Amino acid sequence: VDLTTASKEQLQALQTELEQEYTGLKQAGLNLDLTRGKPSSDQLSLSNSLDGILQGDYTMDNIDLRNYGGLDGLPSAKTLFAPVIDVAIDEILIGGYSSLTLMHQCMIFCHFFGLNSSDGAWATEGKVKFLCPVPGYDRHFSICEQLGIEMIPVAIGDTGPDMDQVEALIKADPLIKGIWCVPRFSNPTGCVYSDKTVDRLAQLDNIAGNNFRIFYDNAYAVHTLSDDAPKLKSIMAACKKYGTEDSLLIFGSTSKITFAGAGVCYLGASKVNLAAITKHIGIVSIGPNKVDQARHVKFLQDSAGIKVLMDEHAKLLQPRFKAVTDGLENELADSGVCEWTKPEGGYFISFDTLPGLAKTVINMAAEAGVKLTPAGATFPYGRDPEDKNIRIAPSVPSVAEITKATEVFVNCVKLATINKLLAQ
Ligand SMILES: Cc1ncc(COP(=O)(O)O)c(C=O)c1O
Repeated sequence: VDLTTASKEQLQALQTELEQEYTGLKQAGLNLDLTRGKPSSDQLSLSNSLDGILQGDYTMDNIDLRNYGGLDGLPSAKTLFAPVIDVAIDEILIGGYSSLTLMHQCMIFCHFFGLNSSDGAWATEGKVKFLCPVPGYDRHFSICEQLGIEMIPVAIGDTGPDMDQVEALIKADPLIKGIWCVPRFSNPTGCVYSDKTVDRLAQLDNIAGNNFRIFYDNAYAVHTLSDDAPKLKSIMAACKKYGTEDSLLIFGSTSKITFAGAGVCYLGASKVNLAAITKHIGIVSIGPNKVDQARHVKFLQDSAGIKVLMDEHAKLLQPRFKAVTDGLENELADSGVCEWTKPEGGYFISFDTLPGLAKTVINMAAEAGVKLTPAGATFPYGRDPEDKNIRIAPSVPSVAEITKATEVFVNCVKLATINKLLAQ
Protein backbone atom coordinates (compact mmCIF):
# COMPACT_ATOMS: atom_id res chain seq x y z
CA VAL A 1 0.00 0.00 0.00
CA ASP A 2 1.22 3.49 -0.81
CA LEU A 3 0.97 5.10 2.62
CA THR A 4 1.39 8.58 1.21
CA THR A 5 -1.93 8.39 -0.67
CA ALA A 6 -3.89 6.20 1.78
CA SER A 7 -6.97 7.77 3.40
CA LYS A 8 -7.11 8.60 7.11
CA GLU A 9 -9.50 5.68 7.65
CA GLN A 10 -7.17 3.28 5.84
CA LEU A 11 -4.23 4.49 7.93
CA GLN A 12 -6.21 4.11 11.15
CA ALA A 13 -7.21 0.55 10.25
CA LEU A 14 -3.59 -0.29 9.44
CA GLN A 15 -2.43 1.34 12.65
CA THR A 16 -4.69 -0.90 14.74
CA GLU A 17 -3.48 -3.99 12.88
CA LEU A 18 0.20 -3.03 13.19
CA GLU A 19 -0.15 -2.18 16.89
CA GLN A 20 -1.58 -5.63 17.57
CA GLU A 21 1.24 -7.21 15.60
CA TYR A 22 3.81 -5.09 17.47
CA THR A 23 2.40 -6.13 20.86
CA GLY A 24 2.68 -9.76 19.79
CA LEU A 25 6.26 -9.29 18.65
CA LYS A 26 7.19 -7.63 21.95
CA GLN A 27 5.76 -10.59 23.86
CA ALA A 28 7.78 -13.07 21.77
CA GLY A 29 10.93 -12.27 23.80
CA LEU A 30 13.20 -11.99 20.74
CA ASN A 31 16.89 -11.25 21.10
CA LEU A 32 18.27 -10.43 17.65
CA ASP A 33 21.17 -8.22 16.63
CA LEU A 34 21.69 -6.49 13.29
CA THR A 35 24.39 -4.11 14.51
CA ARG A 36 27.59 -6.03 13.99
CA GLY A 37 29.50 -5.51 10.77
CA LYS A 38 31.76 -8.44 11.41
CA PRO A 39 32.20 -11.92 9.92
CA SER A 40 30.14 -14.78 11.34
CA SER A 41 31.87 -17.76 12.97
CA ASP A 42 31.14 -19.81 9.84
CA GLN A 43 32.97 -17.22 7.75
CA LEU A 44 35.92 -17.18 10.14
CA SER A 45 36.08 -20.98 10.00
CA LEU A 46 36.79 -20.78 6.26
CA SER A 47 40.31 -19.70 7.20
CA ASN A 48 41.00 -22.13 10.03
CA SER A 49 43.84 -23.76 8.13
CA LEU A 50 45.92 -20.64 8.78
CA ASP A 51 46.70 -22.45 12.03
CA GLY A 52 49.74 -24.67 11.60
CA ILE A 53 50.16 -23.84 7.91
CA LEU A 54 53.82 -22.90 8.37
CA GLN A 55 54.56 -26.36 9.83
CA GLY A 56 57.44 -25.01 11.84
CA ASP A 57 59.13 -23.29 8.87
CA TYR A 58 59.62 -19.69 9.95
CA THR A 59 61.60 -18.54 6.92
CA MET A 60 60.16 -16.74 3.91
CA ASP A 61 61.90 -14.52 1.37
CA ASN A 62 65.13 -15.44 3.22
CA ILE A 63 63.81 -13.59 6.27
CA ASP A 64 63.51 -15.06 9.78
CA LEU A 65 59.83 -14.31 10.36
CA ARG A 66 60.17 -14.62 14.11
CA ASN A 67 62.43 -11.63 14.53
CA TYR A 68 62.06 -7.85 14.55
CA GLY A 69 62.42 -5.87 11.34
CA GLY A 70 60.94 -5.54 7.90
CA LEU A 71 58.91 -2.41 8.63
CA ASP A 72 57.31 -2.35 5.19
CA GLY A 73 56.33 -6.03 5.26
CA LEU A 74 57.30 -9.29 3.59
CA PRO A 75 57.98 -9.12 -0.17
CA SER A 76 55.77 -12.16 -0.81
CA ALA A 77 52.89 -10.49 1.04
CA LYS A 78 53.35 -7.36 -1.11
CA THR A 79 53.10 -9.52 -4.25
CA LEU A 80 49.93 -11.09 -2.88
CA PHE A 81 48.07 -7.93 -1.82
CA ALA A 82 49.24 -5.27 -4.35
CA PRO A 83 46.67 -6.46 -6.96
CA VAL A 84 43.86 -6.29 -4.35
CA ILE A 85 44.25 -2.50 -4.12
CA ASP A 86 45.53 -2.05 -7.68
CA VAL A 87 49.02 -0.72 -6.97
CA ALA A 88 52.52 -1.86 -7.97
CA ILE A 89 54.60 -4.08 -5.68
CA ASP A 90 56.83 -1.14 -4.74
CA GLU A 91 53.75 0.93 -3.82
CA ILE A 92 52.52 -1.19 -0.91
CA LEU A 93 53.39 -1.66 2.75
CA ILE A 94 52.11 -4.64 4.73
CA GLY A 95 51.35 -4.01 8.38
CA GLY A 96 49.73 -5.55 11.43
CA TYR A 97 46.16 -6.74 11.67
CA SER A 98 44.21 -3.48 11.56
CA SER A 99 43.88 -1.01 8.72
CA LEU A 100 42.02 1.32 11.09
CA THR A 101 45.17 1.57 13.20
CA LEU A 102 47.15 2.42 10.07
CA MET A 103 44.61 5.10 9.11
CA HIS A 104 44.77 6.57 12.61
CA GLN A 105 48.56 6.62 12.51
CA CYS A 106 48.63 8.26 9.07
CA MET A 107 46.20 10.93 10.26
CA ILE A 108 48.50 11.62 13.21
CA PHE A 109 51.56 11.79 10.95
CA CYS A 110 49.79 14.26 8.63
CA HIS A 111 48.24 16.31 11.41
CA PHE A 112 51.12 16.71 13.84
CA PHE A 113 54.28 16.07 11.83
CA GLY A 114 53.62 16.44 8.11
CA LEU A 115 53.64 13.27 6.08
CA ASN A 116 56.70 14.01 3.92
CA SER A 117 59.72 16.11 4.68
CA SER A 118 58.31 18.62 2.20
CA ASP A 119 54.93 18.74 4.00
CA GLY A 120 53.91 20.97 6.85
CA ALA A 121 51.84 19.55 9.69
CA TRP A 122 48.16 20.28 9.15
CA ALA A 123 47.84 21.42 12.76
CA THR A 124 50.13 24.41 12.13
CA GLU A 125 47.62 25.82 9.63
CA GLY A 126 44.84 26.32 12.19
CA LYS A 127 41.45 24.66 12.24
CA VAL A 128 41.74 22.13 9.43
CA LYS A 129 38.81 20.23 7.96
CA PHE A 130 37.96 16.94 6.33
CA LEU A 131 35.22 16.02 3.88
CA CYS A 132 33.05 13.15 5.07
CA PRO A 133 30.70 11.51 2.58
CA VAL A 134 27.51 10.63 4.48
CA PRO A 135 26.17 8.25 5.48
CA GLY A 136 29.64 6.85 6.20
CA TYR A 137 31.81 4.82 8.58
CA ASP A 138 31.63 6.02 12.18
CA ARG A 139 35.19 5.04 13.03
CA HIS A 140 36.58 7.35 10.34
CA PHE A 141 34.61 10.16 11.93
CA SER A 142 35.86 9.26 15.41
CA ILE A 143 39.46 9.73 14.25
CA CYS A 144 38.72 13.27 13.00
CA GLU A 145 36.76 14.06 16.14
CA GLN A 146 39.61 12.89 18.38
CA LEU A 147 42.13 15.05 16.51
CA GLY A 148 39.84 18.08 16.49
CA ILE A 149 39.57 18.06 12.70
CA GLU A 150 36.29 19.66 11.68
CA MET A 151 34.12 17.38 9.60
CA ILE A 152 32.12 18.64 6.64
CA PRO A 153 29.47 16.20 5.45
CA VAL A 154 28.97 15.73 1.71
CA ALA A 155 26.22 13.68 0.10
CA ILE A 156 26.91 10.22 -1.29
CA GLY A 157 24.88 8.67 -4.10
CA ASP A 158 24.95 5.60 -6.34
CA THR A 159 28.20 6.67 -8.02
CA GLY A 160 30.04 7.88 -4.89
CA PRO A 161 30.35 11.30 -3.23
CA ASP A 162 28.68 14.27 -4.91
CA MET A 163 31.79 15.43 -6.76
CA ASP A 164 30.34 18.82 -7.74
CA GLN A 165 29.92 19.56 -4.04
CA VAL A 166 33.34 18.09 -3.17
CA GLU A 167 35.16 20.17 -5.80
CA ALA A 168 33.32 23.38 -4.92
CA LEU A 169 34.12 23.00 -1.20
CA ILE A 170 37.78 22.18 -1.81
CA LYS A 171 38.27 25.03 -4.26
CA ALA A 172 36.81 27.49 -1.77
CA ASP A 173 38.74 26.35 1.31
CA PRO A 174 42.46 25.41 1.42
CA LEU A 175 42.00 24.27 5.04
CA ILE A 176 40.15 21.19 3.78
CA LYS A 177 42.99 18.70 4.05
CA GLY A 178 41.36 15.50 2.92
CA ILE A 179 38.39 13.28 2.27
CA TRP A 180 37.35 9.88 3.59
CA CYS A 181 36.41 7.39 0.89
CA VAL A 182 35.19 3.77 0.95
CA PRO A 183 35.22 3.32 -2.80
CA ARG A 184 33.85 -0.20 -3.28
CA PHE A 185 30.77 -1.34 -1.36
CA SER A 186 30.85 1.76 0.76
CA ASN A 187 29.95 1.46 4.45
CA PRO A 188 26.94 1.63 4.76
CA THR A 189 25.35 2.37 1.35
CA GLY A 190 27.19 -0.33 -0.60
CA CYS A 191 27.73 1.98 -3.57
CA VAL A 192 30.73 1.52 -5.86
CA TYR A 193 32.45 4.68 -7.06
CA SER A 194 32.05 5.15 -10.81
CA ASP A 195 35.05 5.58 -13.13
CA LYS A 196 34.15 9.26 -13.44
CA THR A 197 34.14 9.70 -9.64
CA VAL A 198 37.54 8.01 -9.31
CA ASP A 199 38.89 10.22 -12.08
CA ARG A 200 37.61 13.39 -10.40
CA LEU A 201 38.98 12.31 -7.01
CA ALA A 202 42.36 11.82 -8.64
CA GLN A 203 42.32 15.48 -9.76
CA LEU A 204 41.38 17.01 -6.40
CA ASP A 205 45.00 17.64 -5.40
CA ASN A 206 45.26 20.08 -8.31
CA ILE A 207 42.58 22.34 -6.81
CA ALA A 208 43.19 21.71 -3.08
CA GLY A 209 45.36 23.57 -0.56
CA ASN A 210 48.73 22.21 0.62
CA ASN A 211 49.19 18.64 1.79
CA PHE A 212 45.79 17.39 0.72
CA ARG A 213 45.26 13.64 1.22
CA ILE A 214 42.59 11.21 0.06
CA PHE A 215 42.09 8.54 2.74
CA TYR A 216 40.92 5.80 0.40
CA ASP A 217 39.73 2.95 2.59
CA ASN A 218 39.25 0.07 0.20
CA ALA A 219 38.08 -2.24 3.00
CA TYR A 220 35.73 -4.21 0.73
CA ALA A 221 37.88 -4.40 -2.42
CA VAL A 222 37.16 -8.09 -3.11
CA HIS A 223 34.01 -8.53 -1.03
CA THR A 224 31.43 -9.18 -3.73
CA LEU A 225 28.12 -11.00 -3.32
CA SER A 226 28.11 -12.10 -6.96
CA ASP A 227 30.40 -12.14 -9.98
CA ASP A 228 28.40 -9.37 -11.68
CA ALA A 229 29.26 -6.79 -9.01
CA PRO A 230 30.56 -3.47 -10.40
CA LYS A 231 34.34 -3.11 -10.68
CA LEU A 232 36.41 -0.23 -9.36
CA LYS A 233 38.76 1.72 -11.59
CA SER A 234 42.38 1.96 -10.35
CA ILE A 235 42.79 5.28 -8.56
CA MET A 236 46.57 4.98 -8.41
CA ALA A 237 46.68 4.77 -12.21
CA ALA A 238 44.37 7.81 -12.45
CA CYS A 239 46.50 9.80 -9.97
CA LYS A 240 49.62 9.04 -12.00
CA LYS A 241 47.88 10.38 -15.08
CA TYR A 242 47.28 13.70 -13.29
CA GLY A 243 50.56 13.78 -11.34
CA THR A 244 48.74 13.62 -7.99
CA GLU A 245 49.87 10.27 -6.61
CA ASP A 246 51.29 11.87 -3.45
CA SER A 247 47.73 12.92 -2.47
CA LEU A 248 46.60 9.29 -2.26
CA LEU A 249 46.69 6.85 0.66
CA ILE A 250 44.92 3.52 0.05
CA PHE A 251 44.07 1.21 2.95
CA GLY A 252 42.80 -2.34 3.22
CA SER A 253 43.00 -5.48 5.31
CA THR A 254 42.11 -9.16 5.46
CA SER A 255 39.76 -8.52 8.39
CA LYS A 256 36.83 -9.75 6.27
CA ILE A 257 38.87 -12.14 4.15
CA THR A 258 40.46 -14.30 6.86
CA PHE A 259 40.41 -13.40 10.59
CA ALA A 260 39.12 -9.97 11.69
CA GLY A 261 41.35 -10.03 14.76
CA ALA A 262 44.42 -11.79 13.39
CA GLY A 263 44.87 -10.89 9.75
CA VAL A 264 47.12 -8.38 8.02
CA CYS A 265 46.55 -4.86 6.73
CA TYR A 266 48.10 -2.93 3.88
CA LEU A 267 48.73 0.59 2.69
CA GLY A 268 49.10 1.60 -0.95
CA ALA A 269 50.91 4.87 -1.64
CA SER A 270 53.46 6.57 -3.89
CA LYS A 271 57.08 5.61 -3.31
CA VAL A 272 57.73 9.06 -1.79
CA ASN A 273 54.86 8.64 0.69
CA LEU A 274 55.79 5.04 1.48
CA ALA A 275 59.34 6.00 2.37
CA ALA A 276 58.02 8.78 4.63
CA ILE A 277 55.37 6.59 6.28
CA THR A 278 57.87 3.78 6.87
CA LYS A 279 60.05 6.29 8.71
CA HIS A 280 57.12 7.44 10.86
CA ILE A 281 56.05 3.86 11.55
CA GLY A 282 59.62 3.10 12.63
CA ILE A 283 58.94 5.31 15.64
CA VAL A 284 55.80 3.35 16.53
CA SER A 285 57.10 -0.18 15.99
CA ILE A 286 60.21 -2.28 15.32
CA GLY A 287 58.39 -4.27 12.68
CA PRO A 288 55.06 -5.97 11.95
CA ASN A 289 53.91 -9.51 12.67
CA LYS A 290 55.59 -11.27 9.77
CA VAL A 291 54.49 -14.71 10.96
CA ASP A 292 50.88 -13.81 10.18
CA GLN A 293 51.92 -12.23 6.90
CA ALA A 294 53.64 -15.49 5.87
CA ARG A 295 50.63 -17.54 6.97
CA HIS A 296 48.47 -15.43 4.68
CA VAL A 297 50.87 -15.89 1.77
CA LYS A 298 50.81 -19.68 2.22
CA PHE A 299 47.07 -19.82 2.74
CA LEU A 300 45.80 -17.39 0.08
CA GLN A 301 48.70 -17.86 -2.39
CA ASP A 302 47.55 -15.43 -5.10
CA SER A 303 44.59 -13.46 -6.48
CA ALA A 304 42.92 -16.66 -7.66
CA GLY A 305 43.23 -18.08 -4.14
CA ILE A 306 41.65 -14.95 -2.68
CA LYS A 307 38.80 -15.21 -5.19
CA VAL A 308 38.07 -18.85 -4.25
CA LEU A 309 37.86 -17.87 -0.57
CA MET A 310 35.74 -14.78 -1.25
CA ASP A 311 33.29 -16.93 -3.23
CA GLU A 312 32.85 -19.07 -0.10
CA HIS A 313 32.17 -15.91 1.95
CA ALA A 314 29.62 -14.83 -0.66
CA LYS A 315 27.78 -18.16 -0.34
CA LEU A 316 27.29 -17.44 3.37
CA LEU A 317 26.54 -13.72 3.02
CA GLN A 318 24.33 -13.64 -0.07
CA PRO A 319 21.32 -15.45 1.51
CA ARG A 320 21.56 -13.18 4.55
CA PHE A 321 21.44 -10.03 2.44
CA LYS A 322 18.61 -11.55 0.43
CA ALA A 323 16.64 -12.25 3.62
CA VAL A 324 16.72 -8.52 4.41
CA THR A 325 16.08 -7.18 0.92
CA ASP A 326 13.29 -9.72 0.20
CA GLY A 327 11.61 -8.82 3.50
CA LEU A 328 11.82 -5.11 2.72
CA GLU A 329 10.79 -5.55 -0.92
CA ASN A 330 7.74 -7.69 -0.08
CA GLU A 331 6.42 -5.35 2.59
CA LEU A 332 7.64 -1.86 1.77
CA ALA A 333 8.28 -1.69 -1.99
CA ASP A 334 5.15 0.35 -2.78
CA SER A 335 4.89 2.18 0.54
CA GLY A 336 6.37 5.44 -0.77
CA VAL A 337 7.79 6.25 2.67
CA CYS A 338 11.29 4.76 2.71
CA GLU A 339 14.23 3.71 0.56
CA TRP A 340 17.06 1.27 0.95
CA THR A 341 20.17 0.14 -0.92
CA LYS A 342 20.64 -3.26 -2.59
CA PRO A 343 24.39 -3.71 -2.37
CA GLU A 344 26.31 -6.18 -4.51
CA GLY A 345 29.03 -6.57 -1.92
CA GLY A 346 30.33 -5.37 1.41
CA TYR A 347 28.67 -5.78 4.80
CA PHE A 348 25.78 -3.33 5.02
CA ILE A 349 22.40 -2.20 3.79
CA SER A 350 21.51 1.45 4.27
CA PHE A 351 17.87 2.28 4.98
CA ASP A 352 16.24 5.71 5.00
CA THR A 353 12.93 6.35 6.80
CA LEU A 354 10.91 9.52 6.41
CA PRO A 355 12.79 12.41 8.04
CA GLY A 356 12.59 12.34 11.83
CA LEU A 357 11.86 8.64 12.27
CA ALA A 358 15.19 6.77 12.47
CA LYS A 359 15.52 7.11 16.26
CA THR A 360 11.88 6.15 16.80
CA VAL A 361 12.15 3.04 14.60
CA ILE A 362 15.41 1.96 16.27
CA ASN A 363 13.89 2.38 19.75
CA MET A 364 10.73 0.53 18.79
CA ALA A 365 12.75 -2.35 17.30
CA ALA A 366 14.88 -2.50 20.46
CA GLU A 367 11.72 -2.82 22.59
CA ALA A 368 10.72 -5.76 20.42
CA GLY A 369 14.13 -7.41 20.89
CA VAL A 370 15.89 -6.34 17.65
CA LYS A 371 19.08 -4.37 18.11
CA LEU A 372 20.02 -1.91 15.35
CA THR A 373 23.03 0.44 15.05
CA PRO A 374 22.28 3.62 17.04
CA ALA A 375 20.67 6.42 15.03
CA GLY A 376 23.17 9.00 13.84
CA ALA A 377 26.12 6.61 13.96
CA THR A 378 26.69 6.98 10.23
CA PHE A 379 27.16 10.77 10.50
CA PRO A 380 29.95 13.01 11.87
CA TYR A 381 29.50 13.73 15.59
CA GLY A 382 26.73 11.07 15.64
CA ARG A 383 24.23 13.61 14.29
CA ASP A 384 22.01 12.68 11.37
CA PRO A 385 20.50 16.09 10.57
CA GLU A 386 17.39 14.47 9.09
CA ASP A 387 17.23 11.58 11.58
CA LYS A 388 16.43 9.11 8.82
CA ASN A 389 19.38 6.77 8.19
CA ILE A 390 19.58 3.25 9.64
CA ARG A 391 22.49 0.86 9.02
CA ILE A 392 21.59 -2.82 8.76
CA ALA A 393 24.37 -5.39 9.18
CA PRO A 394 23.17 -8.90 8.33
CA SER A 395 26.41 -10.94 8.35
CA VAL A 396 26.25 -12.56 11.79
CA PRO A 397 22.70 -13.85 12.54
CA SER A 398 21.26 -16.93 10.82
CA VAL A 399 18.94 -16.52 7.82
CA ALA A 400 15.96 -17.47 10.02
CA GLU A 401 16.95 -14.84 12.60
CA ILE A 402 17.44 -12.19 9.91
CA THR A 403 14.05 -13.00 8.40
CA LYS A 404 12.41 -12.56 11.82
CA ALA A 405 14.37 -9.40 12.58
CA THR A 406 13.37 -7.92 9.22
CA GLU A 407 9.73 -8.70 9.99
CA VAL A 408 10.02 -6.75 13.25
CA PHE A 409 11.85 -3.93 11.49
CA VAL A 410 9.19 -3.65 8.78
CA ASN A 411 6.45 -3.54 11.42
CA CYS A 412 8.27 -0.75 13.28
CA VAL A 413 8.88 1.27 10.09
CA LYS A 414 5.23 1.02 9.05
CA LEU A 415 3.84 1.76 12.50
CA ALA A 416 6.18 4.69 13.17
CA THR A 417 5.41 6.13 9.73
CA ILE A 418 1.64 5.79 10.12
CA ASN A 419 1.77 7.32 13.60
CA LYS A 420 3.63 10.27 12.09
CA LEU A 421 1.28 10.63 9.11
CA LEU A 422 -1.78 10.52 11.37
CA ALA A 423 -0.32 13.08 13.74
CA GLN A 424 0.19 15.62 10.93
C1 LIG B 1 35.06 0.87 5.87
C2 LIG B 1 35.80 0.11 6.91
N1 LIG B 1 37.11 0.34 7.09
C3 LIG B 1 37.82 -0.31 8.04
C4 LIG B 1 37.23 -1.25 8.86
C5 LIG B 1 38.07 -1.91 9.91
O1 LIG B 1 39.23 -2.40 9.32
P1 LIG B 1 40.33 -3.20 10.13
O2 LIG B 1 39.70 -4.41 10.70
O3 LIG B 1 41.35 -3.53 9.08
O4 LIG B 1 40.89 -2.30 11.18
C6 LIG B 1 35.86 -1.52 8.71
C7 LIG B 1 35.19 -2.47 9.61
O5 LIG B 1 34.01 -2.55 9.69
C8 LIG B 1 35.14 -0.82 7.72
O6 LIG B 1 33.82 -1.03 7.53
